[in-house]
Formats: sequence, structure tokens, C-alpha cells
Amino acid sequence: MCGIVGYAGRGKCAAKCVYEGLLRLEYRGYDSAGISVLDGGKITTVKRSGRVCQLESAAGGMSGGIAIGHTRWATHGAPSDTNAHPHNYGAFSVVHNGIIENYAELKEELAEGGRLCISETDSEVIALLIDSLYSGDALAAVAAAAARLKGSFALAVLCRDFEGFIAVRHKSPVAIGECDGAFFAASDVPALPAEAENVYFLEDGDIAAVTYDGIAFYDFGLNAQRRESCRIPRGQFTADKGGYVHYMAKEIEEDARTIRDTAEAFLRSADADALGSLLTSSDEIIITGCGTAYNSGLIARRYFESALGRPVTVEIASELRYYPPPVGKNTLVIAISQSGETADTVEAVHKLREGGASVIAVTNCGYSAITRIAHAVVPVCAGAEICVAATKSYMGQLAALYLISRCTGDVRAAAKELTDVAEKIPSVISDDANADCFSDMCAESFAVFFLGRGADYDAAVEASLKLKEVSYIFSDAYPSGELKHGTLALVDESTLSVFIICQPETANKCLSAVHEVLCRGGRAAVLTSVPEAAEELGKYLPVWKLPKVSPRLAPFLSAAALQRVAYLTAVRLGRNPDKPRNLAKSVTVE
Ligand code: F6R
Repeated sequence: MCGIVGYAGRGKCAAKCVYEGLLRLEYRGYDSAGISVLDGGKITTVKRSGRVCQLESAAGGMSGGIAIGHTRWATHGAPSDTNAHPHNYGAFSVVHNGIIENYAELKEELAEGGRLCISETDSEVIALLIDSLYSGDALAAVAAAAARLKGSFALAVLCRDFEGFIAVRHKSPVAIGECDGAFFAASDVPALPAEAENVYFLEDGDIAAVTYDGIAFYDFGLNAQRRESCRIPRGQFTADKGGYVHYMAKEIEEDARTIRDTAEAFLRSADADALGSLLTSSDEIIITGCGTAYNSGLIARRYFESALGRPVTVEIASELRYYPPPVGKNTLVIAISQSGETADTVEAVHKLREGGASVIAVTNCGYSAITRIAHAVVPVCAGAEICVAATKSYMGQLAALYLISRCTGDVRAAAKELTDVAEKIPSVISDDANADCFSDMCAESFAVFFLGRGADYDAAVEASLKLKEVSYIFSDAYPSGELKHGTLALVDESTLSVFIICQPETANKCLSAVHEVLCRGGRAAVLTSVPEAAEELGKYLPVWKLPKVSPRLAPFLSAAALQRVAYLTAVRLGRNPDKPRNLAKSVTVE
């Protein structure tokens, strides 16, 4: 979702440092990339449509101690050299993450004064606006411009007359790390060099003037602010493929470790009594998130309902922010977000909190926007998740949510259940024979349907999202009982129906659905931990036998298996699973 980088250091290698930061940040967008360097009062810019690596040789030849950079996920204007950031005007060069909602009216106003945009972006107008407000004080011009912008923005700005760069935050993240006497700003912590252990997180409404000598913080009225740095443990957030061809493969391997680490961290530091009383004192629980985070909420709903014996709702955050139900002080919101910065989730939570609700955030990013709104934060310990498709963070979310749901009972026993399940994951994801067979079948299909009942249906929803986003094969998920209410019309030899059967009480019902598919010429494959289903269906079609665990925890195993299938299918079809087309991680715009 666009990434910005800024660097100020006394050497002359700022462009190279920014280039390396952009490589680490590329998961936030890969439509175009660009770098501007300030040296001796002169700004030089390179920018190109396409991947960051295209800038390598140009960046190597750019000398100067101060630079900014950008990797783009296009929202306004197609991916092109002209629409690439940085955008330059007059004395300024600007990179932007977010969306400027009032760009059209600003564009018109600036055009009347003779300042014309040449790109189709909403971002270029920022450079023109800052220039229009400039009369020798770069910081004052940036602050005045920030106060006029509507929408969301993280900015890094160079000015010919300012020996440093200026960073701004409003609803889009910026972190600034100190390393070896230099200062490095980025949209996400993993883009900072591993040595940057002291990290400042800008608050909404902050401006940071970053020079060789240090950082000065202000609000948009230029009143000085005090910000404390946080120590980020070395290695926890670094981006490293660790010998794997793709981050996705590495991160799936980290599923089990993530569950264990999340459970350990919960036992070590969560206040189970406080969480338990938030659960019991609420009249109503709303779980929310987007994409995979929402999908983990679907499974969690069952955990909370079984633990509390009352209904719980799960809402998509992008809907909830505009159509919130009536809430009050007895409403508890459980917000799930890997990045903690997803604009829809943050806004939905913000709105419900203003309505009086209490908020528990479940997140992989401890210093993110959502943690600042929540009353309690439960960490997911996945470490840096670089692949755009969420895998290990989903496992960590499930683990954290399961533990929260058990806070009114025996949390230690619940943590033990999770570590037992985690132990079974490596044998599932290393089952190459089944993973190859399933991914071959997917790769040959025009469409893939994932079907299940109960928690298996919830796992199917995530399996479907995973397959479609990395392989570009159309897929959807249905409760298996729904097949005959419509979707069966789509079943023929070009479609594959993947059944998940791990809920013994409805296994027989799923067998009938499998037969309905087969007798209409459809292809099918099954994952099951129910021995009778495996024996019966093994006679007709590929069956992947999963280890037996408590049915409510079965999604941990089916999800791990189907993450691996999605990965292998993408690779078979020649897709890059780490950077699916049209997508980016950390969706900080609407
Ligand atoms: C899918 C995926 C997205 C995210 C969604 C929410 O693999 O990664 O659907 O799950 O954009 O992101 P977070 O969890 O950061 O709020």
C-alpha cells in the first residue's frame, strides 16, 4: 500500500540506503519506484514504472547524504513513470503513502495560481501545495500544507534549502530509526536496517524534521512535541528469506512456531483476568477485521460462543465503519489486524470506541495505529510477515483468539491444546505427495470451490482467499449444505470441489455433498481427519488424511495444508506468490 523511506546520514550513500530500504518495503506496492537525493542544495530524482530493482544502478550513482524514496501501489493514475513518486515542484520533492481526498479542489486552486500537475495522481498536488506556501521556511510550508490536506497521508519531503528531510503522519504510519549516527524513516519497521534498534513512531498529526544531528518533533501548528523512542529487539522484525525461494514458503513453515510463540507470550504477559472480565461484563461482542483477519474472526466466533454460551457477531470492518450497529458501554469489540494499520479496521474500531465500546486489539505489530485505540492489546507473535498473502499471522490470530476466549476458564490448558496442535503442523505441511496432488488438481481447474461445515466452512473461506490471491484461479467457499441451493449449477469437469471434513457430527452429510459433485461429472478432493470419511471417499478420489485433533482446532491443520496447496499452485502456474498482481500488504487506504 505504497511505502515511503527517508534517510539522513553524514556519508554520501543516502540513495543506496534508501534503495535497500525500498527493497525491504516492496511488499507494500510494486507498481513503480523512485528516489530523490539532496546534495549541495540540488535535488536529483530517478523514478520508473515497475519494480524497485530497476533503480539499482541509478541509485548507485547518486551521491548525497539525504534522500527519500517510494514504492507505489497505484490508486489514482495507472502505473507509469510520470505517476511514479517522488513528485517534484519548485524547491520540493515529495513521497506520499495514503489518499488525498481533496486533491481535485486543491489542483484547481493551484492551477489558478499557475501551478500545474503533470501526473494523474492525488499525490503530486502535495508538492505544488507546499511550494505555494513556501517563503523560505520549509518546515512552515510543510506544516501549513499538512493542515490543508484531507484524507490519509504519510509524507517524506525534501527541500533544496533544508539540510534534512521532513516526515509527516496523518492516518498512515511512519517509523524513524537511529542507526550508526544516521536516521532512517520508513512506513514499516521491517524496512529499517536491522541495526536500527531505537525507533520513534510518529503519532497522527506529527511532523518530524530529521537532520544529520537529530530529530525534532512538532504538531501541525509547529508546537514542539516530545516523543520517546522504543527499543525494538534486533531480528524480530527483519525481512529475510532465510534460504527459501519465496517468503510465502518460509512463512508457512513458521506457522507452528507462531502458534507456540503466541501462546507463550500470552501466558507470560496477558492479563487473563482483565480480558476475562471484559468478556463477561459485555452484553455483546463484535469481532471485526478485513480479509484474512476477518476470516480468523469467523473461526473465533465459535470459540467465544462455546466459551460464553451466547451469540457473537463477526463483521467486515470496511462495512462496519459505515454501517455500525448501535453500540454502548457494554459492547466489546475484538479487532484483528496483522499490520494494525488497515484503514478500514482502524476507522471501524475508532467509530465503535467513540460510541462507548471497549476494544481488544489482536495484532502482529505492537506499535501500530490499532494499539493506540485499544483498551487491551493481545500480541500475535508471527514476526515480520513479508509475503503479501497472510499465512503465519492467520495461525497466530487463531491462537490468540482461542486463548482470549478461554480467559474465563483454564487458559493454561488451552495453551497446551494449542502447542499440541502446533506439533502436528510440520508433518502436514511436509506431506509433499498430497500437497502436489492437490495443487496439480487446482492448477488444472477453471474454478475451485472449498466446502465444509461448521469450523471447516470457516477454514474453507480462508483457503479460498489464499488460493485466488496467489494463483489467480477463481475460487469461492460454501457451506457444503449450500451446494445444491445454487452452486451445483457450476459444477462440471473444469471445476474442482475441495471438501474439508473434520467435524465428525456432520461428516456423513459432507459425504453426500461429495457424491452430488461426483455424479454430476465434477472433480473433487478431500481433506479429512474423520477415519470413516477417509475410508469411504478414498475409494473414489484423492483424500488427504489429517491428524486427529479436537474438531474446533482442526482449522489449524486444514489451513496449513491449504496454504501449502495455494503456494504450490501459484508456483506451478508461474505466479510470484510473494507479490500477487494488484495487491499490496498493509492496506492503509480505503
Ligand atoms: C490476505 C491478506 C489480506 C489481509 C487484509 C487485512 O492474504 O493478507 O486479506 O488479511 O488486508 O490486513 P491486516 O490483517 O493487516 O489488517
